[in-house]
Amino acid sequence: MKILVTGGTGFIGSHTVVELQQKGYEVVIIDNLSTSVKEVLYSIEKITGILPEFHEFDLCNEYLTAKFFDNNKDIKGVIHFAAHKAVGESVEKPLKYYRNNLFSLINIMQCMNEHQIKNLVFSSSCTVYGQATELPVTEKTSIQKAFSPYGHTKQISEEIIECSVKSSGIKATLLRYFNPIGAHETALIGELPIGVPNNLVPFITQTAIGKRENLNVFGNDYNTPDGTCIRDYIHVVDLAKAHIIAFERMFNNLSKSDCEIFNIGTGKGYTVLEAIRSFEKVSGKKLNFKFAKRRQGDIEKVWADTTYANNELGWKAEKDIDDMMLSAWKWEVELSNKVKIRHKA
Ligand code: UFG
Repeated sequence: MKILVTGGTGFIGSHTVVELQQKGYEVVIIDNLSTSVKEVLYSIEKITGILPEFHEFDLCNEYLTAKFFDNNKDIKGVIHFAAHKAVGESVEKPLKYYRNNLFSLINIMQCMNEHQIKNLVFSSSCTVYGQATELPVTEKTSIQKAFSPYGHTKQISEEIIECSVKSSGIKATLLRYFNPIGAHETALIGELPIGVPNNLVPFITQTAIGKRENLNVFGNDYNTPDGTCIRDYIHVVDLAKAHIIAFERMFNNLSKSDCEIFNIGTGKGYTVLEAIRSFEKVSGKKLNFKFAKRRQGDIEKVWADTTYANNELGWKAEKDIDDMMLSAWKWEVELSNKVKIRHKA
């Protein structure tokens, strides 16, 4: 069965492609390589033995998107990751985010409509909850005003999908991810930030390997046990697996509505200092960090109630924070070995 994965060379996309291929699905990827590299395809091939079919273009291009769907009438489902996701950049360049994240979704859904492709898994985010007043957040927790244009695009995307399924016959599953980290156990794929990382874990691993001088811990005066922010970190492979389970539930007509929503996290919150401690334990490295002022746009704390995903989807995160940190560290070491080999050659 052929599945389209948009953004399939990105961090979560590539791990999902691996899981799909290992379950026997035929995968076709569309990615414009704006924040990823083509080499990821060969790493996927190394892991699974299959080089996924790849099309490089921008899904905001209506003509190219329509042409792709015209030529690929056997696609049975779409897993849509392709989107910009840097919270800070979205504050500086909001239109870039609204244009990219919304136009691509609209183009895809229009083509799905035209070609009667019924199943869509959408990459949403716990960012839609904003700073929730009650924790943990359930899927019924009310949506607060978004903290960033990026977060707002996820809220609008969810609404676009919810409205469109009513009139179209498309079924959708919205997966609200918490904080995806870690890397594949083979250390062949992982997170590949371009330039200075925005996110905590790549910054930790790049500091430990010597690429960055020190990590700034943004804020130690929050209302949390050690003053640093709390997040629900989830291993990217656990997250990737949730996509396949969600797709199969829809495909087999087991969904309870045409647009289902699931929180995808572990249900456990860790402070930044606890995350650092876990990294230090599994890597054996002492991390150079200092406290800095709060980062604008950060929420204080969020973690998931995953009961609905656990009971309904039959999915549960298996890996703990130490597994996540160790796999992220192995990936960083692997990346630095590759650079050393390139320099020698
Ligand atoms: N942090 C630091 N130093 C850094 C980077 C991050 O202290 O150099 C802290 C942040 O202040 C925050 C925590 O680490 O408390 C996690 O920050 P990330 O940037 O890794 O993740 P965010 O929670 O800000 O954002 C992530 C994704 C978004 C998604 C959001 C949902 O990047 O795409 O989770 O909460 F929307």
